[in-house]
Amino acid sequence: MALRYDNRVAIVTGAGGGLGRTYALELAKRGCKVVVNDLGGDRHGSAGSTSMADKVVGEIKAAGGQAVANYNSVEEGEKIVKTAIDAFGRVDIVINNAGILRDTSFINMKEVDWDLIFKVHVKGAYSVTKAAWPYMKDQKYGRVVTTSSNAAVYGNFGQVNYSAAKHALIGFSKSLAIEGAKYNILSNTVIPTAGSRLTQTFMIDALKPEYVTPLVLYMVHENFPETGGLFEAGAQWYGHLQYYRGEGKVLENATVETIHDNWKAVSSMDKPKHVASISEQSAMLMEMLGELDAKKQAGGSSSGGSSSS
Ligand code: NAI
Repeated sequence: MALRYDNRVAIVTGAGGGLGRTYALELAKRGCKVVVNDLGGDRHGSAGSTSMADKVVGEIKAAGGQAVANYNSVEEGEKIVKTAIDAFGRVDIVINNAGILRDTSFINMKEVDWDLIFKVHVKGAYSVTKAAWPYMKDQKYGRVVTTSSNAAVYGNFGQVNYSAAKHALIGFSKSLAIEGAKYNILSNTVIPTAGSRLTQTFMIDALKPEYVTPLVLYMVHENFPETGGLFEAGAQWYGHLQYYRGEGKVLENATVETIHDNWKAVSSMDKPKHVASISEQSAMLMEMLGELDAKKQAGGSSSGGSSSS
């Protein structure tokens, strides 16, 4: 069964090149009406031109699809959403994809390097999604995909600013998923790996942006079954990334020495567990507190520490 997007309207930010362009082209090919947003600046966030977005709109139209260009920075989300409403009357899909780099070691990082990265990635995703949200809420339908990075998860030299911003987006997307649930708005995060202007990788053929496209397209389709998820794509590999935590150890009235003496157990990842939600996390703590309380009432003490499960 071909997955189609007829009667859907998508905003793809930073769609004038790289990954965003492939999302825009593929969505349009499958019947979606697309707002091709791109500021048209360089990879460090300087300058700007209309030509990048126009070129992609031209490609879409030449292939028989429907698209309109928008040249605003993602910090001006309302203007981008207005383009969608003016041209197509609704907005169903937001792909927060626009991005820049200001790589430099932390010692050499200037405030402008920090601020600009946060403005484009974090404020940009906020601004576009915030403006689209009321439409999605009213129509009880929305698909939001936000773009993070391996640098967020693993860290990377010269990318303290970028890693921080990209990790902020994971929290952004997860909390949006919780707020969107009752309105049928799904929010998920993608971690792509692709040869593009940003990465300037030499493995350009093995890391085609087009290899990321199918996952992101599915993530914004009406059949997508997940929300609050983090999914990876690159080099024709697709997967799911989750946080796991260790079993840990209960240490009553701990001192720094107790932590030192029990470090092996505290830091152990021998029995990893995925915690699916903040309420599951709180429930685990409450259960553990209940056990401690019961022990106290029974007159016992676990000063040597007992495992929490
Ligand atoms: P790219 O540089 O080819 O595309 C980014 C696009 O965003 C450019 O066309 C640029 O003009 C546009 N843009 C920049 N600032 C903008 C703004 N303020 N408003 C509107 N448009 C703006 O880069 P690529 O690789 O396609 O990256 C897309 C996204 O994927 C970015 O968020 C990037 O951080 C992320 N990413 C990419 C990876 C990769 O391997 N290519 C790895 C991890 C994350």
